[in-house]
Amino acid sequence: MNNHSPIKPPASLLERASEIYDFRSALRSPEPPAADPVPVAAQARPVAPAAPQVREAVRAPNVHQLKANVDRERLRAANYIVPEGPVTGLSEEFRIVKRQLLLAARGGKGFEPIENGERILICSANPNEGKTFCALNLALSMATEKDNRVLLVDADFAKPSIMSRLGIEGERGLMDALADPTIDAEDLVIETDIAGLSVLPAGRQTNQDTEYLAAAHSAAVLDRLTAHDPTRIIIFDSPPALAASPASVLALHVGQAVMVVHADVTTDTALRDALSLLSGCDNIQLLLNKTKFSPTGRKFGSYYGYGA
Ligand SMILES: Nc1ncnc2c1ncn2[C@@H]1O[C@H](COP(=O)(O)OP(=O)(O)OP(=O)(O)O)[C@@H](O)[C@H]1O
Ligand SMILES: [Mg+2]
Repeated sequence: MNNHSPIKPPASLLERASEIYDFRSALRSPEPPAADPVPVAAQARPVAPAAPQVREAVRAPNVHQLKANVDRERLRAANYIVPEGPVTGLSEEFRIVKRQLLLAARGGKGFEPIENGERILICSANPNEGKTFCALNLALSMATEKDNRVLLVDADFAKPSIMSRLGIEGERGLMDALADPTIDAEDLVIETDIAGLSVLPAGRQTNQDTEYLAAAHSAAVLDRLTAHDPTRIIIFDSPPALAASPASVLALHVGQAVMVVHADVTTDTALRDALSLLSGCDNIQLLLNKTKFSPTGRKFGSYYGYGA
């Protein structure tokens, strides 16, 4: 895993993970265009041409909208992208990852939007590989987009962490809406003071989270979250695929999945097993995280000469 020569400038974390793991054949998505090594966008889901999207919000005003302020200091201390902060290597990395996912979700540049592409699952094989780190950073990066709003859903029901990382209080969430059809998940969405970013907590703890997710009602709950606002991108922070079963059920509900790979730690076998568990999703990308290797000797996210 440390012999990554010959060294060449990586185009993105997504691309580099695929190079290192050579998992194209295991991934459900088709090959990217062969003769285009440069743009990350060109490696987005190979779907047919479509017009670029600029969507208008049709959201009805919600007078009961929950609101909360994000603790920027907490984000800074944990090395997250800080809204309104300077451009950093990390923010540049996630900007590239974001572009590719948005292109698949919205279409454009010769690509058609993929079905349910606006629902993105962030997963990994094992605990502690950086799912929440990547989900939150991706959400923060996407929130800066003019034409999209982001809903970050904590779908790690057994071990939720999104709210605490943002420094937000919030107890009721997705599982409450899944378990009780009289609850509208939209009413539990918390709008943050970061423009374009809202969050949905995991909600009540139950030992039947997979069963609730697999129930027919869950499709209606997620459809409602999508239909509520056509500009909305939904990012699900998932539990580890090999340690908990909700991830594989969530994969059935999303159009895209990002498999976070802990550089030098995630084994080929674990990754293969995790990918097969996510087989309900046709578009899976690998995202290399926590790499210690880079051509410049810098760490994660420093490839573009910004920041540290
Ligand atoms: N690229 C990174 N740079 C710096 N810190 C990171 C990076 N990726 C993850 N971390 C840190 O590593 C720890 C584990 O990451 P995280 O909580 O995102 O993993 P996880 O896969 O969500 O874990 P779990 O399976 O327990 O939910 C956190 O403290 C996180 O801030
Ligand atoms: Mg997590």
